[in-house]
Amino acid sequence: MYYTLQEELLLNFKCLSLTNSLETAYGSNNTTEKLYQERSIGGDSLQLTRNNSIYEETPSECARNLVLRKCGQEKPLPFEECYSSTTLQRCRKIGEGVYGEVFFYKNLDGFGTVMKIIPIEGKQLVNDEPQKKFHEILSEIIIAMELSNLRYNKISTTVGFSELKSVKCVQGCYPARLIDLWDLYDETHNSENDSPEMFGNDQLYVVLELANGGVDMESFEFRNASESLCLFKQIACSLAVAEQACEFEHRDLHWGNVLISKSEEAKLLHYCLNGHEFYMPSKGIEVAIIDFTLSRIKVNNTVIFNDISKDPDLFNATGEYQFEIYKLMQQKNKNEWEHYEPYTNVLWMHYVLHQMTTTVRYAKTTTKVHKTSMQQLITLKNNILKYNSVDELVNNEFL
Ligand SMILES: Nc1ncnc2c1ncn2[C@@H]1O[C@H](COP(=O)(O)OP(=O)(O)O)[C@@H](O)[C@H]1O
Ligand SMILES: [Mg+2]
Repeated sequence: MYYTLQEELLLNFKCLSLTNSLETAYGSNNTTEKLYQERSIGGDSLQLTRNNSIYEETPSECARNLVLRKCGQEKPLPFEECYSSTTLQRCRKIGEGVYGEVFFYKNLDGFGTVMKIIPIEGKQLVNDEPQKKFHEILSEIIIAMELSNLRYNKISTTVGFSELKSVKCVQGCYPARLIDLWDLYDETHNSENDSPEMFGNDQLYVVLELANGGVDMESFEFRNASESLCLFKQIACSLAVAEQACEFEHRDLHWGNVLISKSEEAKLLHYCLNGHEFYMPSKGIEVAIIDFTLSRIKVNNTVIFNDISKDPDLFNATGEYQFEIYKLMQQKNKNEWEHYEPYTNVLWMHYVLHQMTTTVRYAKTTTKVHKTSMQQLITLKNNILKYNSVDELVNNEFL
């Protein structure tokens, strides 16, 4: 059975969607014998192009192969082949989500690696949810890679997105050591997840290996508002760069998805926005933006997004300001999630300012520098909803 480019994307890549411009770029000749394939795997970016050679590949095989190529693998590998017992010995569990488990280990060189282990393709429900398919995980892999690669991009540069070191596709039972660590976390944190003991020999996983981004903003204690203002600027510059580079919208930038690590006080952070190069002092902290499950980007004229239009839980939640943001985004884009609407980033930046001015913890609030910076945060909060994008915000407020 053959699939056209359009059929493949529309029917099977629910998260990987096609814009008209791709059709313009490659013509509208949808002959059924033509498939598409991906080029420049694991490197720069996704390129969808018509494949002139005729070959048979079902959409799920195609997605599987694309994921494997992103991993630089021909087939899924056993856990033991990817992670030695010494590596597993150095692990500890640091977080969890409905999608799976997050572990951390220190490399021999002293740097940390975060492993986000996501079971995929299996029939069993995990944490009451169906497991992601290859095509669903593919979009997360591509977005994480694109944003991580902005650190090497000459025209649009930022180190503000979590660094993706590698992606692996593994198969088999969960390693005993990781189950022990899961149990330990459960005892201390009362896990909401199902134990990964449930997985059998055939279970597949995608493991995202990320540089350690630090602790989330919810758990972090800022020294004072000058520090949080600096973090705000880092987030804003990073979003502005990504808007320019790939029409990026994060769409879920709550304070659990903003990680903070300590850095050298004098370190300068390098940005390039629209070819305009500038440096900002880190003031001893650095942001790593994570979690692109709901995000939208455009790479080589292909829009990758998560169609949340029919997700009742997301839009019915009430209480904190975070939950208002999902509704405000929906109002703004009229529930059309493929559409590019950078105002969603402005809404999240407004939320970040809300947190910074009302909820985050500060070690010292009596100093002049704290009070002046807090006033700046409040002024920004009162002003920023007038901007259409974070790019516009950065250009008007910080450059
Ligand atoms: N690069 C990273 N560095 C440090 N911790 C991380 C990193 N990525 C994820 N985490 C931890 O794992 C948790 C879940 O990861 P996240 O990507 O936000 O998934 P979810 O979709 O469950 O929110 C985060 O809140 C954070 O505590
Ligand atoms: Mg998250």
